[in-house]
Amino acid sequence: MNTFWHNLEKPFTVLAPMEDVTDTVFRRIIADCGRPDIFVTEFTSADGLCSEGRLAVSKRLLYTEVERPLVAQIWGNNPSNYYKAAKMLKEQGFNGIDINMGCPVQKIVKNGCCSALIDNPALAKELVVAAIEGAEGLPVSVKTRIGFKKKVTEKWASFLLELKLPVLTFHARTSKQMSKVPAEWDEIKKIVNLRKEISPETLIIGNGDIISLEDGYSKASFSNVDGLMIGRGVFKDPFIFNKNTDENFFVNLDPKIRLSLLLKHSRLHEKVWANKKPFKILKKFYKIYVSDFRGASELRSDLMQTNTLVEVEKVIAQWLDVNSHTEKKSIDQVAPAT
Ligand SMILES: Cc1cc2nc3c(=O)[nH]c(=O)nc-3n(C[C@H](O)[C@H](O)[C@H](O)COP(=O)(O)O)c2cc1C
Repeated sequence: MNTFWHNLEKPFTVLAPMEDVTDTVFRRIIADCGRPDIFVTEFTSADGLCSEGRLAVSKRLLYTEVERPLVAQIWGNNPSNYYKAAKMLKEQGFNGIDINMGCPVQKIVKNGCCSALIDNPALAKELVVAAIEGAEGLPVSVKTRIGFKKKVTEKWASFLLELKLPVLTFHARTSKQMSKVPAEWDEIKKIVNLRKEISPETLIIGNGDIISLEDGYSKASFSNVDGLMIGRGVFKDPFIFNKNTDENFFVNLDPKIRLSLLLKHSRLHEKVWANKKPFKILKKFYKIYVSDFRGASELRSDLMQTNTLVEVEKVIAQWLDVNSHTEKKSIDQVAPAT
């Protein structure tokens, strides 16, 4: 197989798709902090893309060139819409298409979509075939889990490997487990071994609980995966993909730099989304930047009261006014000038 995936140095890194998190704005922020090899969009409904409401859905697909290679993730249960959606995504210039067979959200799985497809391999295959046809040569991959209600790692992975796709991502938990138990990387190791027998050219990406690049590399050498996908790890460290920083870098980063990142993120959100996305969705990101320093929790609670960019800028300016002096004083106390 000759896809862009196959040209990446191993183990390559991927920012996990995260609904309401990994939009174009956050992807650009992460690209600036230290980019992963591959980005993926939030999951996007194939039915939505083929409906009258496609404009509202398509904001999930907004991107800029810095986010390449960029893979569009789709979900649904209708093969004909998969075909049409894949065609559209190809026209929109995405580098690949990923099919979500892992989301555990009840209102979605009750319609037989996402992780429910683990128990419906016939439909899963139809969807993959339809997407491949529509994608006209773009690589089509699947992101999934190791079972729906119970673990069926070998059975499900063997089935997917028989489809001879270029890439499969496994989040090492069942759908029922949500994210409540530790990810089982020994299950991923079993999949990598199966791959050797069934589809040697299929790349395997491991996902679940990676907390730093070092941790990812050690999971990769344990399991022999080709790629590492990191999701919630970026909430603790937006520099997690940066090969030149270690796991203490962000914790020790000067609060002023953390706050300048927060402002950059907020301003970009405002510029890109203006009235298209509510301002308040930004607040979930503030915990990333405003933590691990003295006074962080008070500042966070002040930021939670804000409703506009101007208010955020004002709160931060006030904090810097008061605290740049205090910070300096404390540094002087620790290391007085001679
Ligand atoms: C807020 C949030 C939203 C998510 N949205 C998606 C999604 O749109 N598509 C998807 O395949 N997985 C989604 N996931 C699952 C992640 O991609 C990933 O598989 C999971 O968080 C485990 O990886 P981690 O331990 O590195 O976070 C989401 C996870 C979170 C926390």
